[in-house]
Amino acid sequence: MTSSDHWDRFRRLRCDLPALGFSIDASRMELDEPFLARLAAPLARAFAAMKALEGGAIANPDEQRMVGHYWLRAPALAPGAELRAAIEAALAAVKKFAGDVHAARVRPEKAARFTRLLCVGIGGSALGPMFVAEALGQPGRDQLAPHFLDNTDPDGFARVLARLGPALGETLVVITSKSGGTPETRNGMLAVAAAFRLAGLSFARHAVAVTQAGSALDRRAEADGWLARFPMWDWVGGRTSELSVVGLLPAALQGLDIDGLLGGAAGMDEATRIADAFRNPAALLALSWYQATGGVGGKAMVVLPYKDSLLLLSRYLQQLVMESLGKRLDLTGHRVDQGLTVYGNKGSTDQHAYVQQLRDGLPGFFATFVRVLEPGGEPLEVEPGVTAGDYLHGLLLGTRAALFENGRASLTLTVPRVDARTVGALIALFERAVGLYASLIGVNAYHQPGVEAGKKAATALLTLQGKVLAALTPEPRDAPAIAAAAGTPDDVEAVFLLLEHLAASGRARAEGVGPAARFARR
Ligand code: PA5
Repeated sequence: MTSSDHWDRFRRLRCDLPALGFSIDASRMELDEPFLARLAAPLARAFAAMKALEGGAIANPDEQRMVGHYWLRAPALAPGAELRAAIEAALAAVKKFAGDVHAARVRPEKAARFTRLLCVGIGGSALGPMFVAEALGQPGRDQLAPHFLDNTDPDGFARVLARLGPALGETLVVITSKSGGTPETRNGMLAVAAAFRLAGLSFARHAVAVTQAGSALDRRAEADGWLARFPMWDWVGGRTSELSVVGLLPAALQGLDIDGLLGGAAGMDEATRIADAFRNPAALLALSWYQATGGVGGKAMVVLPYKDSLLLLSRYLQQLVMESLGKRLDLTGHRVDQGLTVYGNKGSTDQHAYVQQLRDGLPGFFATFVRVLEPGGEPLEVEPGVTAGDYLHGLLLGTRAALFENGRASLTLTVPRVDARTVGALIALFERAVGLYASLIGVNAYHQPGVEAGKKAATALLTLQGKVLAALTPEPRDAPAIAAAAGTPDDVEAVFLLLEHLAASGRARAEGVGPAARFARR
């Protein structure tokens, strides 16, 4: 392709949203005329499905739920005055509570004011808040310094609690779980509550819940008299909940501009309602994903923001995209094994890691660059007339060109700076792209049966662990004998692994190592 051909292509496949200072360049994807013509009708159907979704149709058929995250930033669009009032009341409650905390009208049990924020949650109840906290936070200047617990790892609990140290008494704890019954979050809450007890402090006087009304978490928070309880609704999915109380409460407490987040998302929502692929950045993204992967996830998306503060974007998108699109069955019940693999970190750091393989090795990917126009920081010249920011920008353009020369496709998203509006816009862009793409490939983007299956399997293993413990005798026996005694002779491998774990945690005695080891009661 000549340079003037590429310029024509660039002008055609670059879509600008001046109100947000945002643009997307899809000219380095292979969106040719025959492909666009073939996808025109499916895309029209995707737009129609999205319109129905925003109008309150049941868009999550498996769970018979509406899908309402777009209403969070435009409450007037919610179907019915009740939903609109609920969204507006929740936002007002978030602002009031954060204002009261900042003004020390709500204060800790034994300290003058809250200075730290500890968010406990997992998956959709953690990744958005973590991404936004990292993208927009200003360490040392945040109203409350954020910390996160998003696992059931005892070492992880200990590390975060050690980081808080004596500041635990000035820590506001936000426990977030839509279902209110997720074990990792429950365990994190119990670990934090125990730490407060040990410090001679009332956990309830430092705790806030974000959950659905009537959940186990909600009942506990109410019974124990926690500082506040905020709502989640069944029509907002976990991974699309960043602009609900789930994300807005921690952001407001940290002192971030939540109106900016909502405004940026609302602006992107408006642009991505336009039923014209060339003027709608989410449609361009969805079509690019389809073209690059054959509509079957045949290639991975590598997310490369050239900005340290966007480090967690790829992690956040990994969940949003893979939990939404990674589905065994399509909407008609046929087996499709769909998905779109997402990974990434940041540029230019990754140029010194796996970008070598991207440029020269396996071709099974397309890249999504995020380009931030304003360099930020100090305009320090590192060479005459050249700043560190010039290097960052040059390295992005250089890597993109090097990939292109070797036939590797890429998208480029450009934002003026990393601020609340652009972060809100990026969230809304990918939420919409996922929804449109899900329609193109015919899957339900709004349920997560695989996650539920994992939760059930873990519960079954904990039940088995109880049986294994009960079957231990003073006399050491090997795993097959203990499995038989526990009534699960077909589960010998699982029984052996549980025995190794019980021995390592001091609840069984082991003689020997490996599958030949024998285990006894302690
Ligand atoms: O996106 C999702 O639905 C999941 O990742 C959930 O957010 C995650 O499983 C946590 O669930 P909950 O908020 O109910 O604790």
